[in-house]
Amino acid sequence: MILFAFLLAVSTAAIVDVVEEPPCPSCVLVNTTCYNISHLLELDAPFRKRIVIHKIDLQRSKDVLYFSFEPTFEDEEYYKIGFVDLEHPDEHGIISGTQILNFGTFDIDQANNLIYFGGSDGIFILDNNLKTFSAYSSRGDTITNVFYKNQLYFTRYEDKGIIVKKGDYFQTILEDWPIRKFLVVEKENVNYVIFLSNLGLFVSKGNTVHRISKNAYFRGLTMDLDGNVYAWWLDGIYKVMLSKNVAYSTLVRVAKLPTIGAMAFDNNNNILFTSDKSLFIMKQTEHNNCGVVKPAKPRY
Ligand SMILES: *[C@@H]1O[C@H](CO)[C@@H](O)[C@H](O)[C@H]1NC(C)=O
Ligand SMILES: *[C@@H]1O[C@H](CO)[C@@H](O)[C@H](O)[C@H]1NC(C)=O
Repeated sequence: MILFAFLLAVSTAAIVDVVEEPPCPSCVLVNTTCYNISHLLELDAPFRKRIVIHKIDLQRSKDVLYFSFEPTFEDEEYYKIGFVDLEHPDEHGIISGTQILNFGTFDIDQANNLIYFGGSDGIFILDNNLKTFSAYSSRGDTITNVFYKNQLYFTRYEDKGIIVKKGDYFQTILEDWPIRKFLVVEKENVNYVIFLSNLGLFVSKGNTVHRISKNAYFRGLTMDLDGNVYAWWLDGIYKVMLSKNVAYSTLVRVAKLPTIGAMAFDNNNNILFTSDKSLFIMKQTEHNNCGVVKPAKPRY
């Protein structure tokens, strides 16, 4: 019996010795998966002293990253949009018109290569196939979010609800709710709207609205290639656990990472994120000694 215990102890130690890899200081656990973070490039734009990037997203067919940022104080505009080709980072630039447009938000119709921009004079559209840039809708209105999913959804400054553009006609959903940020996700032919209001983060399906967090200050919402929705804040990345019965939906912190400005997923479902003006990529790795940044204690 004593011998048996001894052997067990030795073999356990041996297994640990063989399998444990040296710590990977650039790795971080996202739930149970280890991701390795590496620096991709520095975004080049006339940033303000304190760098603010509100949103990043990838035009998937061209691997071009778009980002909305606050330009230098001297600039006449208080928001602008820049872009960089991730395969040829020398190809980068800033979207600019001949007038003051203050584009602070955008979204991409990936299938048709159309990019919608929202700002202080309505919604504009860039057709990347035809290389044309034109006014699209709602001239005169200040647009605070645009989102594309089969149709265009947007929000207006100091207005409640989300406006859905259906051809020439508009419908407002969630009309009692002030909306800071939102996105729409489709699961089994049902649309769910995940939105941030001044009372926290909510999930909705039809008229049912359910709060999953009281934190009203998430910096953004994004979706991976599998339709999972994530939010991030100054203490890490959160995943929306969407349930068919929305009242059972929850929010779970999956990674502890303090420096995320904006976040999106690339064509391989790697995480892209900014920290100041640096763009990083987080890729899954098999490494089993996952860094110094330990995962958050699960809340569930
Ligand atoms: C975390 O990973 C476990 C095991 O793979 C899985 O069952 C669970 O649903 C995951 N949690 C989240 C929040 O993704
Ligand atoms: C993490 O990525 C860096 C390159 O940025 C690489 O040198 C390192 O080997 C990677 N580590 C793991 C564990 O994959």
